[in-house]
Amino acid sequence: MTEQLGIRTPRRLIVTGGAGFIGANFVHYWCGKYPGDRVVVLDALTYAGNRATIAPLEGKANLRFVQGDICDRPLIDQLLKEEDIDLLVHFAAESHVDRSILGPGAFVQTNVVGTFTLLEAFRQHWLAHDQPDTFRFHHVSTDEVYGSLEPDDPAFTETTPYAPNSPYSASKAGSDHLVRAYHHTYGLPTLMTNCSNNYGPYHFPEKLIPLMCINILLGKPLPVYGDGQNVRDWLYVEDHCSAIDAVIHGSKPGETYNVGGNNEVKNLDLVHKLCDLMDELAPDLPVRPAKQLITFVKDRPGHDRRYAINATKLKTDLGWTPAQTVDSGLRQTVLWYLNHRDWWQPLLSQEYQAYYQKVYASV
Ligand code: NAD
Ligand code: DAU
Repeated sequence: MTEQLGIRTPRRLIVTGGAGFIGANFVHYWCGKYPGDRVVVLDALTYAGNRATIAPLEGKANLRFVQGDICDRPLIDQLLKEEDIDLLVHFAAESHVDRSILGPGAFVQTNVVGTFTLLEAFRQHWLAHDQPDTFRFHHVSTDEVYGSLEPDDPAFTETTPYAPNSPYSASKAGSDHLVRAYHHTYGLPTLMTNCSNNYGPYHFPEKLIPLMCINILLGKPLPVYGDGQNVRDWLYVEDHCSAIDAVIHGSKPGETYNVGGNNEVKNLDLVHKLCDLMDELAPDLPVRPAKQLITFVKDRPGHDRRYAINATKLKTDLGWTPAQTVDSGLRQTVLWYLNHRDWWQPLLSQEYQAYYQKVYASV
């Protein structure tokens, strides 16, 4: 009713995975934009979760942090009830393709079983409230579920058939299918977004862009898989957050939207851009020009060649467009890694070094 009069009704939301890269950016975005909302962050704090990322918000009365697993049904039931939740935004996942190749089990557990646990708990909660049409379950997913494109193929649309190629993308596809089925079968008011590669602040060091930024700053080799000609479609993380916001506030239940920046770049070109930006912006690099550090390494098994997102539906239905280009976003990101050594240095732990040795044994 109040939303019909143009006044927004405050929401009470759980953000799963809100201490991870995109989830934490989303929590910062949402708390800044909707300070009257109640935000409960649920995160297991795996290696990829970092409570320090949202620490500045924890002093606020409207934010609660809960360390817990999305597979823990009693905990989810308790939080939904005691916090009187009407919106669940689901980021929690095992998210790194290389780790899914080393150990797929955790991906099936968190991404499939965890998403199922949340869906079933949310359905019971929604039923207990007589199925309000204001409740939403927003599932955050990936373009990787669509598989790999040839150079001249059109970009992925919402109707592109699923063809996941890695244990990670297969587990995300499984979770997407469950979300779809819960809407189709039970009428659960779900929403889903399938987004391309994100980058920006608070990105864990194992992913391409932070890994390259940190290795340039440390003067370490920059490992490029295969021939470096694989293509990704890069989106600045805050643009992903604004897209999710647009879908939550503007979409009818049951819809799926692709989210992308229309920024296709070959990996090797991207690494060159990062080297050039670091050469320009970093005062005391151990190795300059940084591109001397580029090292071609063994390819990722099953490496998808190209991703590209067609985000026309999101633009047409909801008027969303990204604010950053890849050049403006990369400049901001490089500056962020330059100025936030205190954030990333502690993440280069023994566990991380052991993982690094396994994947980059030859470097
Ligand atoms: P991330 O790995 O940085 O963060 C994942 C978070 O989930 C961490 O904080 C971790 O502690 C938490 N988590 C893991 N298992 C959990 C469990 N069982 N219970 C509770 N919390 C758990 O991931 P990200 O890059 O921020 O990705 C977030 C979501 O967005 C994922 O669902 C991912 O599939 C999707 N996505 C990511 C990208 C990208 O480029 N990073 C692009 C599109 C979609
Ligand atoms: O497309 C969305 C997906 O993007 C998300 O669903 C995933 O959660 C996210 O991790 C990301 O997956 P990618 O595998 O595309 O991202 P990553 O940063 O791992 O790698 C990007 C590209 O860079 C990919 O082609 C592999 C390559 N690469 C990566 C690393 C870590 C390298 O060449 N060298 C590296 O050391």
